[in-house]
This record gives sequence, structure tokens and C-alpha cells, in this order.
Amino acid sequence: MAERKCIYVRGIGSYLPDKILTNSDLEKMVDTSDEWIVTRTGIRERHIAAEGQVTSDLAVEAAKKALADADLGPEDVDIILVATVVPDMPFPSTACFVQQKLGVKSNCPCASVEVGCSGMIYLMELAAGLLERGTCRRVLAIAADKLSAVTDWTDRSTCVLLADGAAALVLTAEESHGRAELLDTFLAADGSGAEFLCMPGGGGRCPATERSVAERQHFLKMNGREVFKRALRDMGGAVEQIFRRNAIGGEDVAYFIPHQANQRIIEAIAERICVPMEKVISTIARTGNTSSASIGIAWDSACREGRFKAGDLIVPVSFGAGLTSAAALLRWIG
Ligand code: UT7
Repeated sequence: MAERKCIYVRGIGSYLPDKILTNSDLEKMVDTSDEWIVTRTGIRERHIAAEGQVTSDLAVEAAKKALADADLGPEDVDIILVATVVPDMPFPSTACFVQQKLGVKSNCPCASVEVGCSGMIYLMELAAGLLERGTCRRVLAIAADKLSAVTDWTDRSTCVLLADGAAALVLTAEESHGRAELLDTFLAADGSGAEFLCMPGGGGRCPATERSVAERQHFLKMNGREVFKRALRDMGGAVEQIFRRNAIGGEDVAYFIPHQANQRIIEAIAERICVPMEKVISTIARTGNTSSASIGIAWDSACREGRFKAGDLIVPVSFGAGLTSAAALLRWIG
């Protein structure tokens, strides 16, 4: 068998829209309190896209930063992959809108995946496969979501959680340019929980009608308690798979980057895998839940703060609609 190619993250970037929505702003919109939101979720504020700013716009901003970080331009991109659950429209792919807005060459393949908050890790594995096979030299992988567009602003159980943002990676098999080496990924999905976190309206099962609009079917719905339980089970399981397959334990890992859905979930996962909170990256207080973008935003912010040093092992782990889960193992280069 041919030797496997090494896969590198060459550049990383993220983007949060300017507008900030605080807990006290939400107190004026629904029956909630700053105290409830902070105690139950750890969230203090979140960023919300401007009117007219759609998912592909957020994606393009993150992509520009990742390309600059990789010292590349749009002309160097061979394939665009986008992970999102709030596409600009049901079709065509949001990746095609990104291609158009970023000015990437017209023969560049573009595709989107909808795997909820696990988007960034799923994209790393898909990119690795394309690079391994030699289909392309550089993949622009973007996870972006404008959740505010599908948020029911009358539903206090979800609107206090959700936010907008984007993160992007440039992946390559060219060793000399790596920021981090991708050592392993673990992907999973459990469709038995598909209805626990979904947007029922707008697809073939429930097309848009006056009734579907009146019934508020075009907003994100979540069974929070069930999702909470499964998030703990599946994110813990994904990390354990990465540990087992690579013969490592929590003590070998420098940083964990969990999906930023709830500070209580983040702390419970750390406890389950026996890792102190100093090793866990958390940005949820200022970002809220940015869905597929959350891991990349947390990763990028830790990178800009200079927290990683050469040789550090980093484990991102996620959970989201599907219900999908995923984890990865990276070695920081610099
Ligand atoms: O990114 C995808 C993955 N998503 C997640 O991982 C989210 C997982 N779930 C969660 O993070 C939590 O379940 C929530 C934050 C959504 C909810 O927290 P909880 O501790 O599970 O609360 P709960 O749903 O059990 O509700 C407790 C109480 C209820 O009142 P009663 O029935 O006890 O009187 C709710 O009506 O809190 C009430 N409540 C609120 N109160 C004030 C729910 N939302 C709010 C709110 N403000 N915003």
C-alpha cells in the first residue's frame, strides 16, 4: 500500500460580525435574565450579522483571513468546501457563492456539507481525502453559519444560545508551510436523534406554505435536555476514540477545543476525559453558539493569543445536528 501523505493546516482565520447582542438586550426581547443565561450556559454576549449579510459573506471574511495567514491568494485555491446549516438558499451550494464573491477561478470545484456543529472537523477529513488522492493541492475549508436567520426570537429556550460567525482553514499536503499537522480524525453520526435538533420547514417534507410559516416551522427547534445528554455521551466517546487509536491520554494533550454550545457541557466533557480546565479553550462567553464555526473561532482566537507552542497536541471535539459528532488530533508546528 502507498504511504499516506501528511496533511497540514497551512492557514487559519475567523470572522465575527460587528454587532453584539448582550444578555441584557435579550432581557428586553424575551422572558429571561442575564443570571439564567450565564448560570445555565456561560454565555454573556454574541455577535449577530448585519441585515443583508448572509452566510457566504461571513464565510468570505474568514476565508480572506485564512488565505492571508497561509500567504496565499484566491488564485491559489483548488477546491472550496463549506459546512453550513444556514445556506444562502437551499441551492445552489453556498460554496459557489463564496467562489463568486472571493474571485476564485471558475474551474474550481465547490461543495457544501450540512453536518451541524461538527462541520469544521468533517471538512478536515474530507479535505484530507482529496489531498491524499491528489485531486488538488490546496483546499479552502470554511465553516460558517448565520444562525440568527433561523432563530425564533420569541423562543427563550433557543434564542439566548445562538449566534453568527465563520472560520476557515487552508489545508495542503505541502509540508514546508504547515501551521499544524492533521494526525487523525474520528467522525460519527446518530440519525436516531435527527429530530432533536432541526429546522423542520423549507425542505421536501414540509415545504414553505402559509401554514408552515404560521406554525413557525422555519426556525431552529431543539430538545435541549436530550441534546445535552447526547452531547456529553458522543463528544466524550469521540475523544476516547482519538485517545485509543493514537495510544495517548489526556495528559499528552496540550489543548482541547470543544464545540462551544454550553459552558456546562464543556466543563462536563473536561471532567469525563480527566483534563483540567486550563487545557480547555473556551470562547463561549463572548461568542455564544456559532454552530459549525465555533471550533474554528475558538482555535483561531487561541492561536492569535499565542497559546500554542511547537509540538503541542491539540484535540478539537464537536457535536451537532444529525446528530453528528467528531474529534481530531493535530500537532502544532508554529
Ligand atoms: O450546538 C448544538 C448542540 N446544542 C447543545 O449542545 C445545547 C444542549 N442543551 C443545553 O445547552 C441546555 O439544555 C439548555 C441551555 C438549552 C437549557 O438548559 P437546561 O438547564 O437544560 O434547562 P431546561 O431546558 O431544563 O429548562 C429549565 C427551566 C425551564 O423552566 P421550568 O420548566 O423548570 O419552569 C425552562 O422553561 O428554565 C426555563 N428556561 C429559561 N428560563 C429563563 C429555558 N430557557 C430559559 C431562558 N431564560 N432563556
